[in-house]
Amino acid sequence: MSANERLHIGIMGAGAIGGYVGGRLAAKGAVEVTLIGRRTLADAIAENGLTLRDFDHEDRVDASKVRIEEDPHLLSSCDVVFCCVKAGATAKVAKTLANVLQPTTVIVSLQNGVRNHEILREALPGNPVLPAVVGFNVIIRDGAVFQRALSGPLIIETRPEGQDRALVNALRAAGIDAEEVRPIAPEQWTKLVSNLNNAVGALSGSSTRDMILSRQYRRVIALLLDEALDVLDRAGVHAAKFRGVPLRIMSLIMKLPTPIVRLVVRAQLRVDPEARVSMWTDLERRRPTEVDFLNGEIVSLAEKHAMNAPANQRIVELVHNAERAGAGSPRMNAEMLLRRLKDAS
Ligand SMILES: NC(=O)c1ccc[n+]([C@@H]2O[C@H](COP(=O)([O-])OP(=O)(O)OC[C@H]3O[C@@H](n4cnc5c(N)ncnc54)[C@H](OP(=O)(O)O)[C@@H]3O)[C@@H](O)[C@H]2O)c1
Repeated sequence: MSANERLHIGIMGAGAIGGYVGGRLAAKGAVEVTLIGRRTLADAIAENGLTLRDFDHEDRVDASKVRIEEDPHLLSSCDVVFCCVKAGATAKVAKTLANVLQPTTVIVSLQNGVRNHEILREALPGNPVLPAVVGFNVIIRDGAVFQRALSGPLIIETRPEGQDRALVNALRAAGIDAEEVRPIAPEQWTKLVSNLNNAVGALSGSSTRDMILSRQYRRVIALLLDEALDVLDRAGVHAAKFRGVPLRIMSLIMKLPTPIVRLVVRAQLRVDPEARVSMWTDLERRRPTEVDFLNGEIVSLAEKHAMNAPANQRIVELVHNAERAGAGSPRMNAEMLLRRLKDAS
């Protein structure tokens, strides 16, 4: 890719993240964008176009500017494809991409967890695969309204010789705060650790904001966090700071009184009051969650290093129980969760 070419960017899995990133790129119009997604989203876009809602402004993108299809073969002429499906679907989608893409197509995994890029590399050994960490959150509202619910950058592990400059420029031109980093593993682990609370949000049904501002929920999250940090230390895994704050300090902050936490959060994050973790949405929609790629990853790492991670293991079991029950979020309150996790520890 040269810096002057008009890139063709594909989105594999136009859900919350894929729809937002693809929509932002399409809105700018400087690159060609093809989204591969479900019929329901395509119909919603055809009817009302696509809306990108940010904290202080909203952009509407006309349906004529958004190419959204179901057939992944339309990605065959892409220079770059963003893999935006849930982690449980990566292996299946990787096989599809292996049959469809040119060997020169760059694949960027925008997924949470630390393994998706490896799954993609295994299935597409000839293609450059770049891991990325999405530091912001997006929720879908009313069909094709993509609302950014948490601020943050999009961090990509680009290649060292500047081959990905055009891609980074395209993202920045589209208003996405793209950052380059090498290696990305410390950022991926930090994102994973910061997502350990997803299981708490899924099991409780509480909004992210309510969880952060409840001392009892913070005690549950701190239990999972401290256990994970001990495992990372023992395994020699280096995790980056979270928004400039070392993870051990984050754990200390979790244990402070709520008025102080409120001040810290106000300085660090913009959180939509209604935002809920996507694992909660998965339970509510009776879809498999990513818990094995988040808390489950801590359990696996602990096992590899002759340790236990009982609280994370217990919460993985609770989420799997809820998946199997198929009745949505079990709405367990903080006291109930704390008791269950402490009993396991
Ligand atoms: N949402 C966030 O704020 C956020 C933030 C940071 C990172 N992430 C990560 O980004 C990844 C995607 O999350 P998300 O929240 O965007 O998930 P999502 O809303 O479920 O989006 C994935 C979309 O891909 C579709 N899809 C799956 N396989 C497909 C196929 N073969 N053809 C066409 N469409 C297909 C899914 O449809 P079905 O549901 O019908 O399968 C779904 O609409 C996850 O790893 C997540 O952890 C998300």
